[in-house]
Order: sequence, then C-alpha cells, then structure tokens
Amino acid sequence: MTRLLVVRGPDDPAIGEAAAILAAGALVAFPTETVYGLGADGLNPEAVARIYAAKGRPATNPLILHVASVASAKALVAQWPVEAQLLAERFWPGPLTLVLPASAAVPAIVRAGGPSVALRCPAHPVALALIRAVGQPLAAPSANRSQHLSPTRAEHVASSLGEAVDLILDAGPTAAGLESTILDLTGDRPRILRPGPIAPAEIAAIMGPVDLWKGAVMAGETQAAPGMAERHYAPRARLVLVAPGTGLSSASDRVAYVAIGALPPLAAGVHGVLLPMDAEEVGSRLYALLHELDDAGFDRILMEWPPQGEAWLAVRDRLRRASAKEPA
Ligand code: TXA
Ligand code: MG
Repeated sequence: MTRLLVVRGPDDPAIGEAAAILAAGALVAFPTETVYGLGADGLNPEAVARIYAAKGRPATNPLILHVASVASAKALVAQWPVEAQLLAERFWPGPLTLVLPASAAVPAIVRAGGPSVALRCPAHPVALALIRAVGQPLAAPSANRSQHLSPTRAEHVASSLGEAVDLILDAGPTAAGLESTILDLTGDRPRILRPGPIAPAEIAAIMGPVDLWKGAVMAGETQAAPGMAERHYAPRARLVLVAPGTGLSSASDRVAYVAIGALPPLAAGVHGVLLPMDAEEVGSRLYALLHELDDAGFDRILMEWPPQGEAWLAVRDRLRRASAKEPA
C-alpha cells in the first residue's frame, strides 16, 4: 500500500517527514492550488529520473521547478527580465508558470535537454512549507501516469501511481482543479503555451498583449511546447463533446451526460450530471467528475461544449485534449 499522510497545515509534522524523503532522493506527491504534484528534489538528477519512470513520461517532456520565492527562481535562470519580475510580483504565489532561459544550476533532465526552464511558485501553504523544508526547488509534474487525468485529490494519485510514489501528502481537494497557465518568455513575443487559471487578459494587463499558442502539435512547433501532445488528460471512458442542449433520446451502452447550465431531455437510464454556468467552478470540479465517472464504469461520457470566451479557455482546452482520438 502507498503511504498516505493527512496534512493539516504548514506546521504539520508530516511535512518534515516528507522533506526527509525528498532530500533522500525519493518521491512525494503533494497538494498545490491547481492539481497534486509528483515531487522530487529538482537539483538531483537521479531523483528527477524517478519521476519520469513513475509516470511513464517520455524523456523529451521537461518538468516544472517549484520554488518558494522569487530569489530562488532567479538562481535558476540565465536572465530574469523585468516582465518576469512584474508577473511574479502580481501572480506569485499562484498558478502561473514562467518559461525562461535556464541557468547552469538546472539539471539537463529537468529541461529534457532544452535551453529553458519552467518555474512556478505554488499558492498552497503545504507546498510552500515543503519546498522550504527541503531547501531546494521541487521538480513536479501532475501526479498521474503520463497522458492520464490529472489528480485533484490524494485518492486520484494513489489510484494512478500506486507504489511508484513513496508518500502522498493529503490536504483534501485542490482549489483551482486545472493545471497552471504556462507563459513562455523566451521568444520575441510572450506566448501562452497552456491556458489555465490565470487568464490572458490578466497577463496582458501587466505586460501588454500575449500570443496564445493554438495547442495542436504543428510541424516545427514540437520544441516550443514539448508536453502539449494533442491527446492528454484523458479519462478511460470515451469522452465525446456535444453542442449545448443536445440531450440523448436513446442509449444502448452505459453513458453519462454532462450538461452546463441546464439539463436537456435524456433517455431513461442515462446518468445526467448538471454543472453550473460558471467557468471557475466547472474548472475546479472537472477532473474529479471525470475520475468519478470513470470509476463508475461508464463506456461513454457525453459532455456539452462550454461557451466561447476567455473565461472558459482552460476548460475548453482540457476538454479538447481529453476527447482527442488516441494517436494511431
Ligand atoms: O499546475 C501545474 O502546473 C501542475 C502542478 C503540480 O504544479 N504541474 C503540471 O506539470 O501540470 P506537468 O508536468 O503535468 O505539465 C507541465 C507542462 C508540460 O506540458 C511540459 O511540457 C511543460 O509544462 N514544460 C515544462 N518545462 C517546459 C519548458 N522548459 N518549456 C516549455 N514547456 C515546458
Ligand atoms: Mg500533467
């Protein structure tokens, strides 16, 4: 059985225990405000290698380093531009990841051999206390097997990673529920590689217009966002996106229908789920709902497309990826 320790706050003794495990080069899953992360000492290449093995993650997909302060972030980059300073002042701790040119302090395995490093200061008291207790940046991807749904609860980590993780710190469900916004500051123009809880307009308010990378892995673009494989975040059940109000008049398999705003007519035996017309709330509940429907053994999940508009950008992005066809 995987060890799971309930942690009640930043002063909980479980954090010291977890820090000792990390300092010894082993893996600890911990809560952040977005999703649970699978942490290792980010400056220890052997420990970081265990993350790739535990997740079944391709060696070409780099990791985010989690820091507890701007000062620690600066030690990991070759340049700390004024935009990074302004964004960190406004959004850290919080769900914004900055991609910057890496300093020599960052092991190649963290960068997947590339020239840049992704940095984030998480807004969860347990995550911050853990980083401080270890005294090193923590490399941490979402704590799930590669290409599976991200975990928003400790139980999701346990069922996805099992024995591959040495300890799971359980601080209950995460707040945001979707992974951080990733902003690439290494190019001529700033570019969002992954939409998330921090909206493009919030970033633009600090530093002017930002580009939005369209997400599909296009020719020549694979290096820019190595982890943005088209199919991602996928449940086991087949997820099909439908127009709002479509409903379902008959079904011969076990199917769940997820509506946003109002539940349309459904055939008898179809499991209906109603989500509110509220992007933040849908974002925070989405993965837990998909995990739950998966565990309940549905063959198909029909879900209504959320509305257009920036507020729903991250939810739409995750749904598009979760419903993408398996690569041939
Ligand atoms: O909210 C989050 O960001 C969570 C929590 C645990 O912090 N972490 C997370 O990590 O979502 P992960 O590994 O599941 O997703 C990070 C994404 C990957 O798609 C990866 O390719 C990309 O960030 N990434 C990491 N380093 C990068 C870099 N140097 N350049 C471009 N993309 C990078
Ligand atoms: Mg992930």
